[in-house]
Amino acid sequence: MTLMVTGGAGYIGGHVVRVLVAEGHDVVVFDDLSTGRATVVPDGVPLVRADINDRVDLEQALRRYDVDSVVHLAAKKAVGESVERPLYYLRQNVDGLATLLEAMVACDVGQLVYSSSASVYGTPAKYPVDETDPFLPESPYGQTKVIGEWMIADAAVAHGLSYTALRYFNVVGAGGPDIGDVGAFNLVPLALRAITSGKAPSIYGDDYPTPDGTCIRDYVHVVDLAEAHAAAVAHCASGQVSSVFNVGRGVGSSVREVLSVVSEVTGSTVAPVVVERRPGDPAAVVARVDRIREVLGFTASRGLTEMVESAWAAWPSPA
Ligand SMILES: NC(=O)c1ccc[n+]([C@@H]2O[C@H](COP(=O)([O-])OP(=O)(O)OC[C@H]3O[C@@H](n4cnc5c(N)ncnc54)[C@H](O)[C@@H]3O)[C@@H](O)[C@H]2O)c1
Repeated sequence: MTLMVTGGAGYIGGHVVRVLVAEGHDVVVFDDLSTGRATVVPDGVPLVRADINDRVDLEQALRRYDVDSVVHLAAKKAVGESVERPLYYLRQNVDGLATLLEAMVACDVGQLVYSSSASVYGTPAKYPVDETDPFLPESPYGQTKVIGEWMIADAAVAHGLSYTALRYFNVVGAGGPDIGDVGAFNLVPLALRAITSGKAPSIYGDDYPTPDGTCIRDYVHVVDLAEAHAAAVAHCASGQVSSVFNVGRGVGSSVREVLSVVSEVTGSTVAPVVVERRPGDPAAVVARVDRIREVLGFTASRGLTEMVESAWAAWPSPA
């Protein structure tokens, strides 16, 4: 099968490409390199450097490589930036997806795996949160993911698309030293950045209603997540499916617990400092993962220490 991975030069997309290639698929990457790196794309995998909003380039690539199925990760993902630039996020994440869907319909490509996010749940009323819980996004970024899921569901009905949306929880780690998350938007990269700059990692609030007062999240290794994509690709190819899955471990870890693993792994003795809460940080967001286990047979197997060790091994050394 030939797969197009949009955003395949990014942090998660790079891992997805490697797993799909290892499974024997032909893969082409479609990425404008706005936040991705060409070096992440393995040798032998063609890279089409173009914008997801460019329908002509999309159709050319789908036809030229005779693509059967698309894995769509290309998007902007910085929550804070999305608050400042909501229209840019609509253009990138929503218009980009609409353009992709139009191109797929025009080229008769009928299978799609979509990168959604736990941010569609906002602050869930309970945890673990399951796929039938309501959408309560709290940022323009989260809203783009909700709109994306709606658009795909409607296009599936109208055009017979087979699709799987994966709602990623907190993604950590690296599948190799050259493919880590250097973006520093999430807890572990932020902590590694602080430590390597000789600063204390920050805890944004320790007065939440959780056992140690810090926020609880569900952390998943990026290689596990990439393997979930391979399972989702096979699921889409198995018939006309319309599926949505949480991808996490179903295990909650507090910020203090994660930072304690970071200290153990890095040998850092710098104690974290507690600073003000960040607006919009829910106290606890943990995935219910029964559905993906039952339908795809997928379970994330890598633990927190493995995530942090691999993130640390891939962390760039100071220049
Ligand atoms: N990292 C996380 O914790 C997380 C959590 C939930 C969901 N997601 C989603 O996963 C996907 C990938 O995230 P990531 O962490 O790998 O981010 P990333 O920034 O590393 O990767 C995004 C990739 O998409 C490309 N891209 C962006 N806009 C594009 C455009 N207009 N045209 C073509 N290519 C474009 C970028 O160059 C980059 O290679 C995104 O859809 C994101 O919303 C990420």
